[in-house]
Amino acid sequence: MASLRTETIISVNHWSDRLFSFKTTRDPSFRFENGHFVMLGIDLGGKPLLRAFSIASPNHSEELEFLSIKVPDGPLTSRLQHIAPGQDLFVSNKPVGTLVVRDLRPGRNLYLLATGTGLAPFMSIIQDPETYEKFERVVLVHGVRTCQELAYADFITNELPQNPWLGEDVRAKLLYYPTVTREPFRNTGRITQALDTGKLTETLGLPALDPALDRAMICGSNAMLDDLSALLDARGFAISPGVGEPGDYVIERAFVER
Ligand code: A2P
Repeated sequence: MASLRTETIISVNHWSDRLFSFKTTRDPSFRFENGHFVMLGIDLGGKPLLRAFSIASPNHSEELEFLSIKVPDGPLTSRLQHIAPGQDLFVSNKPVGTLVVRDLRPGRNLYLLATGTGLAPFMSIIQDPETYEKFERVVLVHGVRTCQELAYADFITNELPQNPWLGEDVRAKLLYYPTVTREPFRNTGRITQALDTGKLTETLGLPALDPALDRAMICGSNAMLDDLSALLDARGFAISPGVGEPGDYVIERAFVER
């Protein structure tokens, strides 16, 4: 059983009435791989109440960052959404997960496919210099209901390309495709639709998906994982059989009710 550390909230950002993110302190001895998740939570009547959360910050950062949905009657997030700087929370010391770049076969373009809070592990992965060493293009696709839910859009579009350390790689290799389903926006429709119709690759000026060359990582709801996995399977992509066993794509299924 993993033990728990106590970390302190540094800042909280409410993206919408359904979505927020927060930064915490990071014990310097806490190590993780970009794409990993941890159990995180609060003290509820003397007992820890924990759920799995992907780490949105890269492992070279001194802080930890997390992105969370607010479920009105969710046992944890109905409480966690009220957390404020200076308060403590629990973070397990055993980061794990399947969304790691080393479990992908070498390839040309890396597709990071996320809906909602599924973006979190990819925020870590797009800030990892190794991601850019391994792929010619890194294509970040984020599907959400409303424009407000396009968390980190400004960071991805304006800040990261100017980063003194990573900016050059980001400018040369990172492509961002945000898509909104319930409001007008420059890209609309579900990720599945954008992939299936070829709209995604066409809009970005990329060749059609090719299992011999392209790799993917998927994070979202169970329905989204099922639909996107079926779509990739039908095109000849092979899923990684498990941690340490490379495939053409990897998915994360750890996130249940919050
Ligand atoms: P939609 O608005 O058509 O339901 P949520 O916040 O419910 O997790 O949804 C985030 C985004 O994921 C929404 O744009 C939603 O579209 C989309 N979505 C929901 N189910 C799927 C699915 N099975 N495949 C692809 N996208 C999905």
